[in-house]
Order: sequence, then structure tokens, then C-alpha cells
Amino acid sequence: MTRHEMIWSANLATRAERMRASEIRELLKLLDQPDIISFAGGIPEPSLFPFDVARRVTAGILADPNLGPQALQYSVSEGYLPLRQWIAAHMGRLGVACTPDNILITNGSQQGLDFLGKLLLSPGDTMLVEAPTYLGALQAFNAYEPRYDRLMPEGGNRTPASYASAALAAGGRVKAAYVVPDFANPTGETMSLAGRESLLDLAEDLGIAVIEDTAYEALRYEGESLPPLLALDVARCGDIDRTRTVYCGTFSKTVAPAYRVGWVCAAKEIVAKLVLAKQAADLHSSTINQMVMHGIAVAAYDAQVTAARALYRGRRDALLAALEREMPEGVSWTKPEGGLFVWATLPERFDGAALLARSIAEERVAFVPGSAFFATDAHLNTLRLNFSSPNEEKIAEGIKRLGRLIRRM
Ligand SMILES: Cc1ncc(COP(=O)(O)O)c(C=O)c1O
Repeated sequence: MTRHEMIWSANLATRAERMRASEIRELLKLLDQPDIISFAGGIPEPSLFPFDVARRVTAGILADPNLGPQALQYSVSEGYLPLRQWIAAHMGRLGVACTPDNILITNGSQQGLDFLGKLLLSPGDTMLVEAPTYLGALQAFNAYEPRYDRLMPEGGNRTPASYASAALAAGGRVKAAYVVPDFANPTGETMSLAGRESLLDLAEDLGIAVIEDTAYEALRYEGESLPPLLALDVARCGDIDRTRTVYCGTFSKTVAPAYRVGWVCAAKEIVAKLVLAKQAADLHSSTINQMVMHGIAVAAYDAQVTAARALYRGRRDALLAALEREMPEGVSWTKPEGGLFVWATLPERFDGAALLARSIAEERVAFVPGSAFFATDAHLNTLRLNFSSPNEEKIAEGIKRLGRLIRRM
């Protein structure tokens, strides 16, 4: 080493120590190898993308003497007003009466999670999360150096006082609870109405925020829709501007992720703070992307959702049927009513990461080991299986190979 050489590790902030490469990102690279059947990742099926509408809407905007220059110009941090108006009406249909002032457009819902970590968490504060939970949320929050405690909304929550005292003993306060109530990533499970109400009770007792991540909410294949936590919170408070729930929505799973258009819907007071975070981070989301997304939403949102539900329902059914056929005794799995994932639990002696290594080498099948999705106390004998990418034929073949390998081990 010479005196010229930079030692980066000696200069990183403490928050950077918890930033690690995601197993999922690494695994996504495997999708490029054509002989691998991949249940890893969680990306939408590209044949669902609205190519024709997108072409028409984009050309229309760029050819318009008023809209064209606007589309390629800087714009306000809150987001494109017609899109916020469309989203406010959409939220109204979900039982959340609100105005565009309650909406901030973000670069995907992922950016909303980052901003909420930034606004709510001081180092050592506690974030309540389920086990397992969305890995990307943990990555977003980790930068703000929180402690995690386990949320069990389906009847298993501890007393508010025990959450509060554990947080205090760790040198901070409980600040928020993060949940994916509908067809969660990674489990595919949905929080019951009673679970939603008891989570709001807990949050009220603790005086904390609820972060509601609704990435998969629109992708329901059977059963009745449940009200978002924000709708239940509005019903309790009488007015969105008195609520504690921050709803993070996205067009990534219903229209297309590449536009990077998501939104936050919440009380004006916290939206105003989020707007300041947005300004500091990137000024605003891409103006043209927001305008195109607005045009697509007006022309084709319902059709997009209908088509996605039909295609993914078939793939979910194929995956559940294949698991039933191929998995040996001792393996169990969730039966999601929507979303993109099934969560499987193997006998205790299995380690998902070791299984993946053999699965790729011996059977050319990929999935995500479940341990990545735990903030604390990982269960190693778990895996996440995505069913949006492989077609029904590949699903049947992939699960046949995986079942064969598990029997061999
Ligand atoms: C539960 C959950 N939340 C949020 C996101 C982020 O999505 P986006 O930033 O594209 O809206 C994802 C993406 O996979 C997700 O699974």
C-alpha cells in the first residue's frame, strides 16, 4: 500500500456499515441464464406492460405545444397535479377521502420508505416489523441505524408497555410500525381485519406512525378486498389530516416499474415534511414519467389490473398445484389470495442458502433463501418462491426439480 491509496472503509459513516449487497439483486443476475428456472426476484411479467397505450400517450404529450415543453422541464416536488388528482380519486375508491395535498409522488414506493426512515428514525430508535418482512424496507431503514422489534399483528403482539420499555432500554423510542398488509413480500399473506384494527390500537397506545406498504394491494385473485389501514384510520379519526398511517402506493406492479412512479398518501403535516425530503433528495420525480403515467392510468389502469390478475392467478394456481404434487412430507407453504409470492417452510434441518447452492448446481432452479427477510432471528429453513416470472410450464418443471432435490437431501 502507498500513501496515495485511499482506505474507503476507514471513512465510512456508521450508517454505511449496515448497507450490504442484497441477495435478491445478486440472484436477479441469474435470470439472464436461459437454462435456469427462476423463482427468485419478483419482477412483473413484461407481456403485461402497456406498450401501445404508452406509445400513444408519450407521442401525444411530446407533440402537444403546451404539454411537450412541460414534460421535459423541471417541475414541483409534490408531483404532477393531474396525477395527484387521479391518485386522490383512486384513494377515495379505497375508502380514503383525501385531496391532492395529501399526496406526494415518489420514485417508486421504495423512495417513500427511505424518506420515512429519514424523517422518523434517529439512531437507536425502534422500528416494529414483521418476521419475515420486505428486504427492501429493511435496507431503506437500515441507513438510519434503527433497532428492530417484532410485530405480530395476528394476535401475538406484546403489550405496548413491553415494546416501549424494550426500546427505551436500547436507548431510543418506538417510532413506527412497518407492514405489508396485502399479499406480503415475502410470505404472500394478508393481514385480517382484526389484525389491522389491533395494529392501529397498538400504534395509538404507543403514539407511533404506521407505514402501510401496499405494493401488491391491487393484485387480488380471490376473496374479498380488505380496507387499507389508512381507511380504517380515517374512519377512527374522522379526517385524514389527523391520522397516523402513511400509505405507500406504487404503479410498479400494475403498470410498469421502469417509470419509477409511486406515491405517499397521508396527513398533510407529514406530507409537507416528505416534500422537503423529496426536494433535498432529487427535487422531483421525472416530469415526463409522471405525465405518461397519468395518461396510462386514465386510459388503461383498470384494464391493466384485470389482465395482471388473470395472468398471475393462473401462475399462482400452477405453483400451488405443483407444490401439492411434488413436495415431500414435512414441507409446508402459504396459499396467497394475491400478490407474487409463496413462502415455503422446510423441515428444521434444511438451510435455504445451502439448498439454493445445490439447487442451482444440480437442478438449475433458483429461489430466494428466506433468511434474507428477517430483521432478527432468521429462520434458515425457509424460501420465497415468486410466480410472476416463470410461465405455468416452467413452474411445473421447476417445482418438480426442486421437490426431487429436497427428497434427495
Ligand atoms: C413490498 C414491496 N414494497 C415496495 C417495493 C418497491 O417497489 P417500487 O419502488 O417499484 O414501487 C417492492 C418491490 O418489489 C415490494 O415488494
